[in-house]
Amino acid sequence: MWKPDRDSGTPLYEQIADHLERRISYGELPPGTQLPSERKLAEQLGVNRSTIIQAFAELRAMGILESRTGSGTRVSLSKWGAIPKHTPNWKRYAEGGSFLPNPPFMRRIREVLSQQELIDLASGELAADLAPTDEIATLMSERRFSSYLGYDHPQGYLPLRQALVGFLETHRGLQTTESSILITSGSQQSLYLITQCLLAPGDAVAVEDPSYCYSLPMFQSAGLRLFRLPVDEEGVHPDDLREVYRMHRIKMVFLNPNYQNPTGTVMSEARRKAVLEVASELALPIVEDDPFSLTDYNGAPPPPFKTLDTAGSVLYIGSLSKIAASGLRIGWMVAPRTVVERLADARQQMDFGLSIIPQEIAARFLRSEALLPHLDRLQVELHYKRDLLIEALRRELRPEQIEFFIPEGGLHLWCKLLPPVHDGRLLEAAIRRGVVFVPGSVYGSESGYVRFTFARPDAADIGPGIAAFAQALNDVQASQDTNN
Ligand SMILES: Cc1ncc(COP(=O)(O)O)c(C=O)c1O
Repeated sequence: MWKPDRDSGTPLYEQIADHLERRISYGELPPGTQLPSERKLAEQLGVNRSTIIQAFAELRAMGILESRTGSGTRVSLSKWGAIPKHTPNWKRYAEGGSFLPNPPFMRRIREVLSQQELIDLASGELAADLAPTDEIATLMSERRFSSYLGYDHPQGYLPLRQALVGFLETHRGLQTTESSILITSGSQQSLYLITQCLLAPGDAVAVEDPSYCYSLPMFQSAGLRLFRLPVDEEGVHPDDLREVYRMHRIKMVFLNPNYQNPTGTVMSEARRKAVLEVASELALPIVEDDPFSLTDYNGAPPPPFKTLDTAGSVLYIGSLSKIAASGLRIGWMVAPRTVVERLADARQQMDFGLSIIPQEIAARFLRSEALLPHLDRLQVELHYKRDLLIEALRRELRPEQIEFFIPEGGLHLWCKLLPPVHDGRLLEAAIRRGVVFVPGSVYGSESGYVRFTFARPDAADIGPGIAAFAQALNDVQASQDTNN
């Protein structure tokens, strides 16, 4: 007799619902068939009654089962009609396709955050009070919006591209023109377009280790082979780049040189120059993902890698997500015309472009006098929250339990736990204690690393969040000791 598989990683209720749906769609349980009671089925399958209740609820929601008080649960007559019809197995379709789902830890974190009140040290974004909401409201009320609301230019809204030319020159020291800019739905879409349009299945690419890229199955979905460039306090090493090219003939390198996610490190100037030399010698494109540099706490953001790029090797990506508001979904790429035109054409096929409204908001904000005071306030607040997090870690954990690198910008703190503990157990223990963080393995590291985001929680929750984390760590370490 069929039984759910407890080790498969798929929740038991989902396996049971899927199994029943399959039996129904194969005609083994025709319309009107009475199902065993929840209690009986729970006994037969060796699960809790609540698991069966959840599985039935899912099938009821799909119209596959119907329940009436007093007469139990049966296969729906109305949905399936007198003649058995075969409904497509949507679950199997949903598991097919070439686009892979998010990593299980990320799905788990999203799920618990939507269901429970937890202290969120996981979501890589700004707290609501760090976004320029009032400034944007004022800017939008000052002048009537009157642009044509038709499909936009394939490269994005011209006033925003024009505003970005000035913004990139003033704040990032980058000289560009509006025809070299592509507006995207966050940096994420730039990464997606690059993987889909400039690379082909089977191509090898190099990414930092650890790296935000590992949290994105989009690389694997595009059929790319990922090779690692270890990150130390100065970033990646040019010799590793040369070696990975020699071994795997990589086609592209993805770097996040300023306040790298997750480590918070800034690549040193010497390494930048040496990496660019290797790239230009090998005609190797570099994607510079630069969403964090303007969060620099000391008011001196590191310049983009691209400012040193005389060979034209660098595709530069930026975003408003980490410096203003992730929900605006405004990102940009500065690239050679051929690349911009190719990606703009692909992007138009996908969604006919980003909505004009957030682009108008972004254009006004980037040109406004509100921008600089906002960035100043953001830097001060992030600095303050980073210090709160560090103080809490020092207070709640013993020095021999944790090591971390202190970043001078960005939203995250990367920690190494000593001795390492099992990622999954620690995450579940933390959820029980009321806090979430991101396990380091999401970014490609081995078990025993964690990433805390201090930008997202309220300042008052950082201390209690770390106290809860410390308790969770002690719970897991105590149970590890007992098992040893
Ligand atoms: C390094 C890095 N790149 C890109 C992104 C995507 O950001 P968005 O698409 O919101 O601009 C993130 C988000 O966390 C990130 O950390």
